[in-house]
Amino acid sequence: MSELLLSAKNLSVRFGGVLAVNNVSFDVKRGEVFTLIGPNGAGKTTVFNLISRIYTPSTGSIEFEGQQLTAQPAHRIASLGIARTFQNIELFEQATVLHNLLIGRHTHRSTGLWREMLFTGKVRAAEIQAREKVEQVIDFLDLQHHRDSLVAGLPYGVRKVVELDAPCAPNPSCCCWTSPRPA
Ligand SMILES: Nc1ncnc2c1ncn2[C@@H]1O[C@H](COP(=O)(O)OP(=O)(O)OP(=O)(O)O)[C@@H](O)[C@H]1O
Ligand SMILES: [Mg+2]
Repeated sequence: MSELLLSAKNLSVRFGGVLAVNNVSFDVKRGEVFTLIGPNGAGKTTVFNLISRIYTPSTGSIEFEGQQLTAQPAHRIASLGIARTFQNIELFEQATVLHNLLIGRHTHRSTGLWREMLFTGKVRAAEIQAREKVEQVIDFLDLQHHRDSLVAGLPYGVRKVVELDAPCAPNPSCCCWTSPRPA
């Protein structure tokens, strides 16, 4: 298995007259915590939007686990093993922590609409597996105390942990975490 996980080469994006990202290259190794730091408007979020295929680069390429990400549609990105969070917390406010984490695992389900509606044995097994995985995540991040609380009532710090957890619960290889600068 290659040590290199993600490789961006000569990325540029132009929005009309604004050159939001100008010839950016970086490599992320497996197991590495890699951070983009820069002033407001430097283009950090745009780079995350390129990795998650919300935008297509004007020039350059992004390779993930040896595959060209630019050839993939946005809806395939999560199943390739890339998760992301947003600068503003994006959770289901009226659902519990447990349910938010369970929703985060749906990309790993291959059960289909009819099987889900009929709650077949395969669906039941997938549900049990999802719950076991989510319970491990709840224990690991010490969210036991909040597992049945509605997200809407939780303090910012706990919500941010849940938000990081929700997409990462499926065990992605790469997690893009966008965070505002601490006050
Ligand atoms: N969809 C868009 N259309 C037009 N301009 C955009 C778009 N997205 C980003 N930009 C511009 O691209 C530049 C980079 O923006 P971006 O949001 O990536 O910066 P950032 O480094 O994440 O900033 P911040 O620290 O404020 O979050 C800015 O000038 C922004 O106005
Ligand atoms: Mg930003």
